[in-house]
Amino acid sequence: MEEGITRIGVSLPKNLLDEFDAIIKVRGYSSRSEAIRDAIRGYIAEYKWLESEKGEVVGVLTVLYDHTVRGVSDALISIQHAFSHVITSDMHLHLSDEQCLEIIVVKGNMEEIKKLVDKVAAIRGVLSHKMITAQKKA
Ligand code: NI
Repeated sequence: MEEGITRIGVSLPKNLLDEFDAIIKVRGYSSRSEAIRDAIRGYIAEYKWLESEKGEVVGVLTVLYDHTVRGVSDALISIQHAFSHVITSDMHLHLSDEQCLEIIVVKGNMEEIKKLVDKVAAIRGVLSHKMITAQKKA
């Protein structure tokens, strides 16, 4: 084995791996390992970038979720009410029979917005989320 390389075993749902493989094929990766390395680098970069954001910000939080999972819609609404002090507006798209996309415009203190993002991410039925911020001009 290459110096400095650690081999790991990961358990994944088959449909998740199938979807990943289909994407990396289209994107031209020569190996699954290389694609996973890139995915992990992207995950780390996104986390570090979000961590570095401070103070007053405006941004957009997108949340893709499966509305057929029991309780997910109620949980999303409750959390948004609890964080109404940093939520400016909210758009809902019915993407398919199961999937919904929530686009939440946020404005306020990043510490509070991070709490909102963490709570949303932890809801069962949330498939993915993305937080995009734009620093407000002074
Ligand atoms: Ni919907």
